[in-house]
Amino acid sequence: MLSQDALALIPTLSSHLSLPEEDAIFRPLLPQDVEPLGLFFLSLSESTRRRYWPHALDEKGARVVCSELDSRRALRMVAFSRASEAIIVAYFIIEFELPATERSRYLNYGIQLSEESDCRLAPVVADARQNTGVGSVLMQRTLETTRQLDRRRVILYGGVQAANHRAIHFYEKFGFKRVGTFHKHNRDNIDMLLNLR
Ligand SMILES: CC(C)(COP(=O)(O)OP(=O)(O)OC[C@H]1O[C@@H](n2cnc3c(N)ncnc32)[C@H](O)[C@@H]1OP(=O)(O)O)[C@@H](O)C(=O)NCCC(=O)NCCS
Repeated sequence: MLSQDALALIPTLSSHLSLPEEDAIFRPLLPQDVEPLGLFFLSLSESTRRRYWPHALDEKGARVVCSELDSRRALRMVAFSRASEAIIVAYFIIEFELPATERSRYLNYGIQLSEESDCRLAPVVADARQNTGVGSVLMQRTLETTRQLDRRRVILYGGVQAANHRAIHFYEKFGFKRVGTFHKHNRDNIDMLLNLR
């Protein structure tokens, strides 16, 4: 959970960023973003959906997410293209609530997670822009944000699939370390953790 001081920072977390092919505004999701978020979810390919499903990725999922925004539990950052401000190019969830499944898996590795200081991350970039450097620019900013919000460690939301080589490279590039493996949904997965301090 976030402290009152950290909560007060959330409205200030909007930034203009230069992505490799365009400029973008990276900001917390707002209740009125239902339509662009729904379009973004519907645009995601099957291959992206196989690797990323924190919640329903359709119009209904967008409505639910936008109507239940609660910064104490999660910060949902979206990157809007500045050329067309109705288009979302990436969605990064930073969640401060850590479910029992995640906490008990980490306990098995000898790591006690804390909702006071840790958070979990789930990033996705629009298919057409994946592997062009967009995720790296947004990750850099996201990690600055987690530090501003007094987080000490970042873990991956549900781990990363062992076959998702690009994502694993991406996380390792930012300093995430492998802390354990688990088998779920017929797949091998890796838990990775980043120490921010
Ligand atoms: C994972 C994801 C968020 C990364 O964002 P991105 O914009 O594609 O990332 P970038 O282009 O900034 O960086 C990709 C890096 O992976 C590398 N890479 C690409 N394919 C790779 C592969 N098959 N094996 C290893 N590394 C690979 C690139 O060279 C680049 O590394 P570099 O910066 O050192 O050159 C994005 O690809 C995505 O949304 N994937 C689908 C959803 C997903 O998997 N989410 C994570 C779930 S845990």
